[in-house]
Amino acid sequence: MEIENTVARNLTIYICQECEASYSKWTGQCDKCSAWNSLLEEKGQDNTPKGLGVKKGQIIDFVGLNGSEQQPKRRTSHIKEFDRVTGGGLVAGSAILVGGDPGIGKSTLLMQVAAAMAKNFECAYISGEEAIDQLRLRASRLGLSNSPVKLAAATSVRNINSSLNDKNGPNVVIIDSIQCMYVDNLESAPGTVSQVRTSAQELIRLAKRKGFSIILVGHVTKDGAIAGPKVLEHLVDTVLYFEGDQSHQFRILRSVKNRFGPADEIGVFEMTGTGLIEVSNPSALFLSEHDETVSGTSVFAGMEGTRPILVEIQSLICTSAQATPRRAVIGWDSNRLAMILAVMDSRCGLSLAKSEVYLNIAGGLKVSEPAADLAVSAALISSIMEVPVPKKTVLFGEIGLSGEIRTVSQITTRLKEAEKLGFKQAIIPTLKNTSKTKLNHGGKIEIREIKNLRDLIAIFPKAKM
Ligand code: TYD
Ligand code: MG
Repeated sequence: MEIENTVARNLTIYICQECEASYSKWTGQCDKCSAWNSLLEEKGQDNTPKGLGVKKGQIIDFVGLNGSEQQPKRRTSHIKEFDRVTGGGLVAGSAILVGGDPGIGKSTLLMQVAAAMAKNFECAYISGEEAIDQLRLRASRLGLSNSPVKLAAATSVRNINSSLNDKNGPNVVIIDSIQCMYVDNLESAPGTVSQVRTSAQELIRLAKRKGFSIILVGHVTKDGAIAGPKVLEHLVDTVLYFEGDQSHQFRILRSVKNRFGPADEIGVFEMTGTGLIEVSNPSALFLSEHDETVSGTSVFAGMEGTRPILVEIQSLICTSAQATPRRAVIGWDSNRLAMILAVMDSRCGLSLAKSEVYLNIAGGLKVSEPAADLAVSAALISSIMEVPVPKKTVLFGEIGLSGEIRTVSQITTRLKEAEKLGFKQAIIPTLKNTSKTKLNHGGKIEIREIKNLRDLIAIFPKAKM
């Protein structure tokens, strides 16, 4: 039976490590999230309110919304891609959680950030996962051995707190990782829900009090969420994910929550033998191997947060010997591909029911925008017709179920980026008169507005259909 709200004193409870539901008895499967074998024994904390209503609290002051607020003080690393994602630098007293798959480069990134910050601020890097020798080895590989970063290997939150609770303490503290930390008055093992939550709370409380910025590294589970309590994401001010494909060198730092800046912002890095280097023009990188003479590829002018990114979409269609032909998608939503195939079939008469369809976003990037629909169908049509998409052309637009091309946001930014990279033509949804007057992209790129998916077929010069 799941225990609601309060937990009795000194009670042993079992907490689901996936969804945080708590139980009085161990069971093999969590009733709430259906995860198997996810319950771990943890000592319950005393959450019962003591004498509320009997002892009087202090009276709090209410104020109006209008007052003199201060802009938060920011500490920049001068690693532009990192500063952009944090919203212009780390805010004093704020907590940032950086999540990511093992081996993706979190420790590498944060060591580089620590070294860059150390030029102007006192910076401490506390690792619970690696020994000092290992950390030094990484630093020398990154060419940062002479940086004045304060290094420590520690896991006890009590020891860390005592060390940081100093007038001349550091301005930036990096904890790698929060799952390794433990508070000694809890009996559960490090990495359990209560340990992670309490350790984070203690560290964040000190950061707020002392005014240092704290960066916590968090592991992610196999489903891609930050491991440990969901509450961790609520506790911190900023949540960043470091993503990428192990087989590609690109790494993307993405902000999913930011109390002090825009969410959805990305920073792009490239992993090299000597650490991460910034990629200030990601579109050029993602398009570097694009071959315009090949059929089945198109260029999508996409947006990642406030940033335009041009990516190549590749498709391959071949006949299938199977009753249910294969559909494989990398970097895009397979349900959206199914929808586009259905629209192409019923609205344009292009049936792929007997063909295998493969779709890939080049460079290991993941695209989630529906605005990519038009570029995806251009790649598919080009593949069916075996005619390349016209040269120097970008596409964007959402496709509706009746085959209509729907408008998307930030058209000007997309067009400007395409123009910057030397594209000559953009195939886009029809613009309303109001947006036409607003469209001020420089005017060098030729705009072709299309209303319906059927109109897309007409862009292929030697179309046989
Ligand atoms: P790491 O930062 O340890 O990952 P995480 O902390 O997210 O687990 O990085 C591990 C990978 O990065 C490892 O496979 C080696 C690679 N790497 C490089 O390619 N170049 C480098 O300069 C460094 C330091 C690591
Ligand atoms: Mg690491």
